[in-house]
Amino acid sequence: LPVAVLVSGSGSNLQAILDRIEAGRIDARITAVLSNRADAQGLVRAAAHGIPALALPHGDYPDRTAYDAALLAAVRQSGAEAVVLAGFMRILGPDFVAAYRDRILNIHPALLPSFPGVRGPADAAAYGVAIAGATVHFVDEKMDNGPIVIQAAVPARPDDDAAALAARILAFEHRIYPQALAWLASGRLTLDGRKTRLAPAAI
Ligand code: GRF
Repeated sequence: LPVAVLVSGSGSNLQAILDRIEAGRIDARITAVLSNRADAQGLVRAAAHGIPALALPHGDYPDRTAYDAALLAAVRQSGAEAVVLAGFMRILGPDFVAAYRDRILNIHPALLPSFPGVRGPADAAAYGVAIAGATVHFVDEKMDNGPIVIQAAVPARPDDDAAALAARILAFEHRIYPQALAWLASGRLTLDGRKTRLAPAAI
């Protein structure tokens, strides 16, 4: 499965996915890594693996619609048939979501529907949860809202600050994101309304 990966920061989820692909555990090929930030470490990780890495700084575009159109064109140009958002910190517009409907995955560092938005771990730590987590879900027009593919439960401690909890969650993200992509790439994932169905593995 040809996949484009969108990043905004360190790209540790990209790295986890890359490593699993190179280990032959995921039947996918990364066609390009794109970022809205020229300084995203994820672009460096891509280049180190010989993957086309492209920055499309959102400041270079007059508005959100123009940006989305440019991003979608670049993703299509790469030959991607699915899109993985890995620490990508922008909301995709309706045209992009429609173009790749049910073929866009995102990872969120909380147990959705709890703690959506950009401060999931901090909100969970502040709330005093005993169990935090991470969620891989299909992307739809709303933020952090699409059908859930896989979740991880992560123990939280009373003295956790946001950074400590986020770091603990991140280690679990690196396990569930490659798993989710492996399922998508193997064609075992189907959508039934809000529910995702996982077909039995071919023996
Ligand atoms: C992770 O917490 C991820 O859940 C969130 O962005 C953070 C950084 O991800 N979406 P990465 O290291 O850039 O993959």
